[in-house]
Amino acid sequence: MRRLAVLVSGRGSNLQALLDAIASGALDAQVVGVFSDKLQAPALERVMPALRWSRDARSYVHREEFDAELADAIDAVQPDWVVCAGYLRMLGDAFVARFRGRLLNIHPSLLPAYRGLRTHARAIADGATEHGASVHFVSPELDAGAVVAQARVPVLPGDTPDALAQRVLGIEHPLLVAAVKLAVDGRVKEDGDRVLFDGHPLLRPLRVDSAGLLVP
Ligand code: GRF
Repeated sequence: MRRLAVLVSGRGSNLQALLDAIASGALDAQVVGVFSDKLQAPALERVMPALRWSRDARSYVHREEFDAELADAIDAVQPDWVVCAGYLRMLGDAFVARFRGRLLNIHPSLLPAYRGLRTHARAIADGATEHGASVHFVSPELDAGAVVAQARVPVLPGDTPDALAQRVLGIEHPLLVAAVKLAVDGRVKEDGDRVLFDGHPLLRPLRVDSAGLLVP
């Protein structure tokens, strides 16, 4: 069974989606550690204490020091995949290099649109008619790695950033589960700046519907 290390910073609803999929048998994996840059991240409560690791990243003078401790703690649980599921801190180059190829992140936008923060407000301000979420391999540049899969939602008239964020979150959960399933099943691999899907280069990200199924 594939071993997952999950990185979180906040509420942990994406982590919960993974835990639920594992519990129901939809995802053949086990969460072997949950790691946070926030001492009291609510997400940590979703797993038993023995699986939790957290440090206050702000108490480190150098980013590299925190990253190195985090990386050592992750390595200690020997994960096959490292999944950033609502991890809101940037990962340094050395960290990314150490886990490259088995490091995934979920980002609330249809990448390459809206890298970085406040994606929902920016999409509304631009008059976008569609928004969504992406699961991508992590590369040194922020939110720029090869995209594995995306799910879309409409932007509705009168949407506030919060309303849109809620709608996107609803599809993040099935998207993340579907993408992690592809990873643990060995169907996706990072190949430079592209993704191999069943051994073939992906020309565009896979599309996942609200039930977590791949859209042909
Ligand atoms: C999600 O929208 C994720 O895409 C973003 O932060 C949010 C985390 O939510 N990076 P949760 O902690 O998984 O509930």
